Order: sequence, then C-alpha cells, then structure tokens
Amino acid sequence: MSEIITVIAPVNIAVIKYWGKRDEDLILPLNDSVSATLDTSIMCAKTSVCARPEFKEDGIWLNGKKESFYSPRLQNCLREIKARAAAEKSVNEDFLQWKVHVCSENNFPTAAGLASSAAGYACLVTALAKLYKVKSDVSSIARLGSGSACRSVYGGFVRWHAGTNPDGSDSVATQIADQAHWPEMQALILVAGDTKKKTSSTVGMRIAVETSELLKHRIKHCVPQRTEEIIQAIKEKDFPKFAEITMKDSNQFHAVGLDSYPPCVYMTDVSHLVSYVIHKYNEISGSIKVAYTFDAGPNACLYLLEKDVPQVISLIKHIFPSSNPDKFVTGLQSKEEPLSPVFMSICEPQKQDLIKYVIHTKVGDGPTEITDGSHLLNEAGLPKAE
Ligand code: DP6
Repeated sequence: MSEIITVIAPVNIAVIKYWGKRDEDLILPLNDSVSATLDTSIMCAKTSVCARPEFKEDGIWLNGKKESFYSPRLQNCLREIKARAAAEKSVNEDFLQWKVHVCSENNFPTAAGLASSAAGYACLVTALAKLYKVKSDVSSIARLGSGSACRSVYGGFVRWHAGTNPDGSDSVATQIADQAHWPEMQALILVAGDTKKKTSSTVGMRIAVETSELLKHRIKHCVPQRTEEIIQAIKEKDFPKFAEITMKDSNQFHAVGLDSYPPCVYMTDVSHLVSYVIHKYNEISGSIKVAYTFDAGPNACLYLLEKDVPQVISLIKHIFPSSNPDKFVTGLQSKEEPLSPVFMSICEPQKQDLIKYVIHTKVGDGPTEITDGSHLLNEAGLPKAE
C-alpha cells in the first residue's frame, strides 16, 4: 500500500505571454515566456494522489466531481512521470503497475482566466513526482498538461524556454529569481467575470498560429528582446521597466487576438477601462507605479509594489463600487488610505459590481508538500468529500 501524497501548487501570471504552439501534442510553444508565481496561501490548487494494488482503474476527482482519466493531456503526464521513475529506478516495477487515484481542488474559480489549469497540472505532476520519487526537473512534464503549468513548478520569477528540440526535451522552465528576491512585489487580481471563457486558450492560440501575421512579427521581432529586458529589470528590481514591458506585452497579445481570423476577444469594456485608469494613474503619479496584464479572460492582474497598494485599492474602490464592500478585497491585508483628490478626477464612479472582487496577493514559492494530514483522499484512497 502506498502513502497518500498531498501537494499545493501556485498560480502564475505571465508578464511575457505564451501564445502559439509549434507542436500541439507535446505542447511546445513558439516563444519564450516569463511569469511571476503567486503566493499559495492566497490562491492554490491542492492535489492528493495514491497508488494501490487493489485499485481497478486510474481515477480522478476534480473540484468534487469524478472526471475521466482518459484525456490525452492527463495520460501524457502520468505516462511520462512513470517513464521518468522507471529511468531513475526510483520505485520498483510492481509499484509502477498499480493504478492511481487523484483528487484535486482549486480555491478560486476554474477556467475564468485565472490560470487554474496551470496550478492544477503543476500540482498533479509535483504530487505524482513525489509519489514515484522522481528527482529530476518535472517542468517539462507539467507542460504536457497545460503549457503555462510548467512555470508554476517554480516560485518567484520564472522563464519558460521555448527550446528547439523536436522532442521538447529543452522546453523547460527555469527560475529567474526566487520569491525572496523582490519581496515588495505584489499583485491585485481584479475579477471582472468568473464565467467560463468563450474561446479556450488552446483554440485561441491555434487560430492565431493559423491566421495572424502579427503573431509572426511578435515572435520574431518583439518577444526575444522583451524577454531579455524584463529579466534584466527583474534582476535589477527596476519596477518602471518591468511594468512597461508587462503592459506592452499584454496589449500585443490581445492585439494578436484581434488579428486572428475569426478574432478572439478576451478583454471587455471593463478590462479596457481598467487599462485606461492605470495609464492615467501612472501619468498623474509622474512614474509607472502599476502594471496591468490580462490573460485569456476579462480579469486584470495588476503588478505593483507594496507601498502603492493602499492608494491603488482606494482608486479601484472609488471607480468600481461594490454592493458588498466588506468582502470586496480578499487575501492580504493592507492599510486603508483615502484617495488623494488628484486621483478622484481620473474617472467617475461606475455602476456597482463591474469588478466583483479583488484578490490581493504577492509573489510566492513553488509547489509544496502538505504534511499535516489534510489529504483530499481518505485511507481507502477515495475522496473525503464524497
Ligand atoms: C494567455 O497554458 O492555458 O495565459 O497550453 O493550451 O493549455 P494550453 O494553454 P494555457 O495558455 C495560457 C495562455 C495565457 C498566457 C500565459 O500564461 O503565458
């Protein structure tokens, strides 16, 4: 009988976006990308795994629902972890034959453009790696689940190298700097909608690869330089440079969406208003204090330094009033600060609840094993919640 392994894993939000694959099965990207990993104490996926000789088949439960294990991406992850374990001779042959049970949940909305698949696959693969005692880098296996998941295997600031090998062996994530390097770096996630997106990232990027001229230009002439520059900005803790590149890259990614045929539009009027407000805020401040970035959904992720959080939260509360002000900001605590009158003029208060809530978080560590016994599977290897 094997023990139950439980892991929590973080979300990551890219500042240089991954958009476009050169191989759909191996999930190999056309360009490098860069992200920050966010604190698991605020947002995380949690996964328990175990393998037993008595299990009849592999089983998976996601957010309380039994799902099929026969998705190609899931199969690829399990097969590759087992292949690694076999190559590393980390467990015996019998153990590799036993079926596994997986139970996983997120503490934030799934498929709302909040990087839930990234946290989910990073968590699954890290938990399986611990179960099968795999020691080597598993970012290339997390990548087989969802491209962006490979970046959630590390904490701090992370680069996913596109690589050039056809088998994907050099398409791995590496850490640029750990979470302690720039402790002032925080994030505010403005949740503008938590329904499932219209076009999945997978389909959106396929259309872009097939039809967008701008994507070709971006990959060849923009991303390589931006990647080097933002890595330098991170190393030197140069916030204005970091922020400028982040915003430009987000804008270009959404421009690629519009340049796709048919177009893939992820930002909404609320998203565009957030972008306008941040530019105005930076202009009035006399320097770039906040960066926005949008993934394949309407939610904004604002990167900013801790000292500027109280003022920016006041600004968001002023423009986007909530019907539930006490629960509007979740996550980290911050001081209250009245909004300076100069910022009041940026934009009139909008109708209530355009922003549903705000998650205040910071850059954090990579996946960690939970050893307090709070597994999602019971002793029999079945979901506790069932
Ligand atoms: C906009 O990693 O979700 O968030 O590899 O097809 O699973 P698949 O796509 P996914 O795409 C993420 C796209 C993005 C940008 C990013 O995270 O870099």
